[in-house]
Amino acid sequence: MDTHRKRILTGDRPTGPMHLGHYVGTLANRLRLQDSYECFFIVADLHTLTTRPDKDAIAQIGDNVREMVLDYLAIGIDPERSAIFLQSAVPETYELNLIFEMLVSVPRLERVPSLKEMAQAARLTAMPFGLLGYPVLQAADILLPRATLVPVGKDNEAHVEVTREIARRFNTLYGEVFPIPELLLGEIPTLVGTDGRAKMSKSLDNAIFLSDDAGAVEARVRGMYTDPQRVRADIPGKVEGNPVFAYHDAFNPDRDEVEDLKDRYRRGKVGDVEVKSSLARALNGFLDPIRRRRMEYARQPQRVEAILRSGTERARHEAASTMDAVRHAMGLYRVPGL
Ligand code: TRP
Repeated sequence: MDTHRKRILTGDRPTGPMHLGHYVGTLANRLRLQDSYECFFIVADLHTLTTRPDKDAIAQIGDNVREMVLDYLAIGIDPERSAIFLQSAVPETYELNLIFEMLVSVPRLERVPSLKEMAQAARLTAMPFGLLGYPVLQAADILLPRATLVPVGKDNEAHVEVTREIARRFNTLYGEVFPIPELLLGEIPTLVGTDGRAKMSKSLDNAIFLSDDAGAVEARVRGMYTDPQRVRADIPGKVEGNPVFAYHDAFNPDRDEVEDLKDRYRRGKVGDVEVKSSLARALNGFLDPIRRRRMEYARQPQRVEAILRSGTERARHEAASTMDAVRHAMGLYRVPGL
């Protein structure tokens, strides 16, 4: 393996199946970059505890982890080249998190908008200490393998900024241990939901999942929000801001077809049914190879486990060497002989 490649660290919380919004927001970037970067993909199970520390939620993590690894493998992440690993199985995560907690202020973290949103969405009445520390834990994830690039969706932008600040602060106090990682947003940082709401998300029930079968995709697309003014097919319609066309732009490789549909839509010369059935076809064409790879891996659960195991070993190896450098740079006292 080429150890001189620059590194990526990114990942997701195992809270449920991944959808098209994840794909355009970050997964596409990961796929595109897995040759030119050494990639570490984290299944961030500890981050789920920040809003759901209850036993019921914890009991679901195992299944969600397996599904998420399948999502990664299904889109074409190559486990030979990229490490897929479980956050809680890297003990240095907890260690570096604590060190980093000293390098950022509470008011700074209180200004991270996503944390309040997460607290609200989880109906938490007071901000848990750990949720306030969410971006700090994320900084530990990113900096343990000393990643230089972090491809994420828009909702993680502010977190990566905190990582950069912590890395700079550490380097200033103790010496150059960490790179200052760059953020990389997807071509479509946030994909509109099937209902026309700003963001595709599982909790809003407006998502098309990478694991949906063809029938589910057709049903979702049939029910999609389009142009509410257009009550009949012969009324000129709006293409801009219309989710059906946003999806055509993102996923239909047949540009001529898309331009023709847009043109006829604007002139009131095409019905929603045709626009939607061609979209469903395009989406299913996009998802078919992903479904095939998923089935292939799903048939071999032990192979998937082995992938997570060896990825975690690789992540641990990097984490251990970074923690050595951290302790050394800080000059932390060590008990002689231990
Ligand atoms: N915060 C990410 C999410 O929204 C998950 C995550 C945890 C992550 N650690 C990370 C993303 C490090 C990028 C880098 O699910």
